[in-house]
Amino acid sequence: MVEQTSHVLQVKGLKVSVKSEQGNVPLIHAVDFELNSGRVLGLVGESGSGKTVTSLSIMQMLDRKTTSIEGSIRLNSRELNGMKDDEMRRVRGKEIAFIMQNPMNAFSPVNTIGSQFIDTIRTHTNASKKQAAELAISAMLDVNLPHPSELLRLYPFELSGGMLQRVMIALCVCLKPSVIIADEPTTALDVTNQLQVLRQLDRVRQEHGTSILLISHDLGVIAELADDVAVMQHGRIVEQADVFELFDSPKHTYTKTLLAARPMLQLTPQMANCIWT
Ligand SMILES: Nc1ncnc2c1ncn2[C@@H]1O[C@H](COP(=O)(O)OP(=O)(O)O)[C@@H](O)[C@H]1O
Ligand SMILES: [Mg+2]
Repeated sequence: MVEQTSHVLQVKGLKVSVKSEQGNVPLIHAVDFELNSGRVLGLVGESGSGKTVTSLSIMQMLDRKTTSIEGSIRLNSRELNGMKDDEMRRVRGKEIAFIMQNPMNAFSPVNTIGSQFIDTIRTHTNASKKQAAELAISAMLDVNLPHPSELLRLYPFELSGGMLQRVMIALCVCLKPSVIIADEPTTALDVTNQLQVLRQLDRVRQEHGTSILLISHDLGVIAELADDVAVMQHGRIVEQADVFELFDSPKHTYTKTLLAARPMLQLTPQMANCIWT
């Protein structure tokens, strides 16, 4: 019997370690969290706390020769940990999509953006080339990318990191996966584009019921979108709560430190004038 659950992604006892001559060095220590249907879980923590390693282990993208992953990663009740490569390739993109922290790594340098975008859509759907190109163009316009049909003819190195990141987000939107993992999706962007990207992620969630694991070192970004928040420090989740509870009454000292370190918007009288008049 299929287990009835609203958990789309369930991570239990996740431990990741790097193999070294001195033995295994742990990076992630028994992490547990759940992502429910249509919800956004924010994973926040300082640089080096283990957010990217966690997402790479969910995506089964860590090098199996040099790292080991223990524990359970269930996506729609299927175990991903240890899944065969060809099966995992079918799951990636279609069921769980990954917006990488470093967008250059997501694209091959030798093919145009258009050929990679269109091929990926066609691998996972039965769209024709023309339909895939139309989908690509409309999704790129939605994330504020100018002249999308020209962008499709360019190579990855011809785009800035911020633009590539938005191309990746547009691609994820076209694939309508049940889960999107967005690893620092706004870090390379200016404030206007940050908001645009967060709005776009919110739209995917609302229109397709996509669940999102939103990873950021910035609590401001998390506050924009997340329903629930998990706080990570030194490879452990030290606190988990709904977003209001976490902001109103943080329990862990580290969460309090993160909250205190948030940049505050300082309004000068001139700026206030611009906003209110
Ligand atoms: N392939 C690897 N081999 C060894 N150590 C790694 C590897 N990848 C990441 N680390 C280490 O794991 C820790 C967590 O890194 P990471 O997940 O990238 O942090 P975050 O994304 O939160 O900034 C860091 O101390 C980093 O140096
Ligand atoms: Mg990272």
